[in-house]
Amino acid sequence: MNKKTILITGCSTGVGRDLAVRLAQAGHQVIATARNPDSLKELPVACRLALDVTDQLSVDRAIEAAVAACGPIDVLVSNAGYAIRAAVEEIDDALAKAMFEVNVWGALRVCKAVLPAMRVRGQGRIVHVGSVVGRFSFPLNGAYAASKHALEALADSMRVELQGFGIPVVLIEPGTINTHFMASSKSIGAIISGNTDSPYAALYREFDLIAAEPAFRGAPAGQVSRIIQKAVEARRPKSRYLAAVSPLYRLVLSLGDGGRDFLARRAFRIRKK
Ligand SMILES: NC(=O)c1ccc[n+]([C@@H]2O[C@H](COP(=O)([O-])OP(=O)(O)OC[C@H]3O[C@@H](n4cnc5c(N)ncnc54)[C@H](OP(=O)(O)O)[C@@H]3O)[C@@H](O)[C@H]2O)c1
Repeated sequence: MNKKTILITGCSTGVGRDLAVRLAQAGHQVIATARNPDSLKELPVACRLALDVTDQLSVDRAIEAAVAACGPIDVLVSNAGYAIRAAVEEIDDALAKAMFEVNVWGALRVCKAVLPAMRVRGQGRIVHVGSVVGRFSFPLNGAYAASKHALEALADSMRVELQGFGIPVVLIEPGTINTHFMASSKSIGAIISGNTDSPYAALYREFDLIAAEPAFRGAPAGQVSRIIQKAVEARRPKSRYLAAVSPLYRLVLSLGDGGRDFLARRAFRIRKK
């Protein structure tokens, strides 16, 4: 196996953390990054660095330190991201913009920081952790799905733009994963979804019930990081990899708008007027 130098964002928890350990154990030189580097202390990786994807200075410093410690970066895994749970009409602008700042502009900021050197070397790889909801959306998930749709569009353009430089661009599209993600999306949107006077209160309650069902607990992070490892190591990676996508989500992907709306109305007990 070809040993690679791989920088990963968002390694404090979840998929990023699992992936850092997995790739290090596979013999790669891993640069694990997180907003709070104390969260990385126990990771058995080559380098642990502070990196907040929303802060240009933090990104620049981290990339400079990574290259100084480990040499040129072969692969960027852009993993940092989170969700907000809210009906579209009730989305708080500031919360949604902050989320886009991480999921979209933050991902792009880190790409822009590593790409010049990759282009000069004629070698490198970008792996974006998107979501299956980069391809469709469901109730209370509009803002997050919009951010992952935006990421898919950017990745689709980058993939072709960078083909002439020998830099593959890959999208990972996970289904539900059992990480901090669900709890954090609920708590970030709690002021909105906890309002019992909301016209969408019934929908928020249904979401909680659905999310509590064992089928929606989600796959272990390892199921997704295994697929990311494939995308990192493949000689010719695919443009997209579905990861831990349940049969229900695969069905949703195969349906048109009418079928998707029907399933969502049934799941959320919405009576069409
Ligand atoms: N879990 C799911 O069901 C699911 C499904 C599809 C796709 N995804 C995607 O998978 C990726 C990983 O999520 P996860 O499930 O592993 O959730 P997670 O455990 O909540 O991890 C999210 C990571 O993103 C980091 N992050 C947030 N804001 C950041 C910032 N400004 N700069 C740097 N890092 C930041 C978090 O760091 P802090 O600890 O500092 O906040 C954390 O390390 C995300 O892109 C998510 O959208 C998740």
